[in-house]
Amino acid sequence: MMIRSAAPADMPALFDLEAQTYGSEAYPSLFLHQALLQWPDLLYVACNEQNEILGYALFAPAAPKVNTPNSAWLMSLLVSPQARGQGVGKALTTFGLQHLVEQGIVQCMLTVAPDNASAIQLYQKLGFNTEVTIAHALGHNEHRLLLKWQHA
Ligand SMILES: CC(C)(COP(=O)(O)OP(=O)(O)OC[C@H]1O[C@@H](n2cnc3c(N)ncnc32)[C@H](O)[C@@H]1OP(=O)(O)O)[C@@H](O)C(=O)NCCC(=O)NCCS
Repeated sequence: MMIRSAAPADMPALFDLEAQTYGSEAYPSLFLHQALLQWPDLLYVACNEQNEILGYALFAPAAPKVNTPNSAWLMSLLVSPQARGQGVGKALTTFGLQHLVEQGIVQCMLTVAPDNASAIQLYQKLGFNTEVTIAHALGHNEHRLLLKWQHA
């Protein structure tokens, strides 16, 4: 497995992975297309030896006026169902956090559904701490946990 910055040729596979996983709740292709243009250093893919996409992670800079300066958000972490449980998600997140630090970004936030045990466990293992529950963030009784990571 290899982790690298995303390239335009990867995007159709990312669109498919999003749509297959989240259906109508998926990030629109236009959003991901724009993300690649705006944050080419913050969109990463994991691929196998055949260059097939196993997963991706998208980070984005946090607005300094409302967030701690030099911080970012993890906007998406997604591993294809066949590739889960093999360290791909952990490798993508670790790679991304290392690159954030190289770019001078020392804090990373994300939100996750409170019942997403596998994701929460992954994030906790990498040093993310739960800050707060954002009640009804995505609608009635659809809460999100806000997690934060700080470079040591
Ligand atoms: C969450 C997700 C990214 C994990 O990716 P993955 O490649 O399967 O995870 P990894 O194999 O790297 O596992 C890393 C750690 O996560 C935890 N983990 C992963 N799968 C788990 C599961 N099914 N149950 C419990 N913990 C799990 C473990 O702590 C694991 O560490 P370990 O291998 O030392 O036990 C993947 O399940 C996924 O894409 N889910 C759908 C999208 C999603 O929920 N994204 C997060 C949105 S905030």
